[in-house]
Amino acid sequence: MSQLSTKHLLGIKNLTEEDLQLILDTAANFKEVINRPIKKVPSLRDITIANVFFENSTRTRLSFELAEKRLSADVVNFSSSNSSVKKGETLVDTVNNILSMKVDMVVMRHSSPGAPHFLARNVNANIVNAGDGTHEHPTQALLDSYSIKEKLGDVAGKKVAIIGDILHSRVALSNIFCLQKLGAEVMVCGPITLLPKYIESLGVKVELDVKKALQWCDVANVLRIQLERQQIKYFPSLREYSLYYGINKKLLNQLDKEIVIMHPGPINRGVELNSDVADSEHSIILDQVQNGVAVRMAVLYLLAGTKG
Ligand code: CP
Repeated sequence: MSQLSTKHLLGIKNLTEEDLQLILDTAANFKEVINRPIKKVPSLRDITIANVFFENSTRTRLSFELAEKRLSADVVNFSSSNSSVKKGETLVDTVNNILSMKVDMVVMRHSSPGAPHFLARNVNANIVNAGDGTHEHPTQALLDSYSIKEKLGDVAGKKVAIIGDILHSRVALSNIFCLQKLGAEVMVCGPITLLPKYIESLGVKVELDVKKALQWCDVANVLRIQLERQQIKYFPSLREYSLYYGINKKLLNQLDKEIVIMHPGPINRGVELNSDVADSEHSIILDQVQNGVAVRMAVLYLLAGTKG
């Protein structure tokens, strides 16, 4: 197979295993490209891409922009904080105005779950979800699986524990779908108040004790406590969260095996992850960031191939 089954990347849920393998294989080719002295290929020379961000971002936004430039696309960036959205313009009007300037693809981050799905139904362009509220963050899950495969040789058969604020995390949901489709076993771990009630229906193991989760897994994907999405208190204090769920070197030293530590960023150092782990040989956090560019190149390249 050399084409995706969809013209939009809205989430991992609706992708096939073949789509995922195609993206990971294509990303491996682009990883080789971005490590050459000349990091650019002409693949998207005739394509214009708008990065439309209604929520803050460092990694995803820079990574998409770099991926687009490495593919020789023309790039425009839009940030809602200094746009006419502040004057009341709607999402569809905003994007249609951008598209009338002959834009082919829209990469969008939005705080509302489903916003990219709505856009895909209402505008004529390839839409890429760069994170929609607490719903999905598909390119993060793809780069996470790519990084596991790169480190451990395969995703199939691996045990991955996703630890932390699962309730508010779009990274968790996309990772669960992606890892399961690629044949990994998935566990979620966190305080009961930060685990969605429906979580067991997704076919994941649930563990409240972080030591048991670490003992079980090959890979721990540690998630940020998303205080900006928490309107009520889900645990007594950050200090207490860190005491019971924070991952530090002492905890890893108690295990009778090596594990790989991942984090999508941004890290709350000293809360969910201590620096003695984040910056240690166990961590592949910066590899994840580097792989993000190759994975996003693959996604954009493959979506461009679905046009017309
Ligand atoms: N991992 C991630 O989405 O980071 P940003 O919010 O900085 O884009």
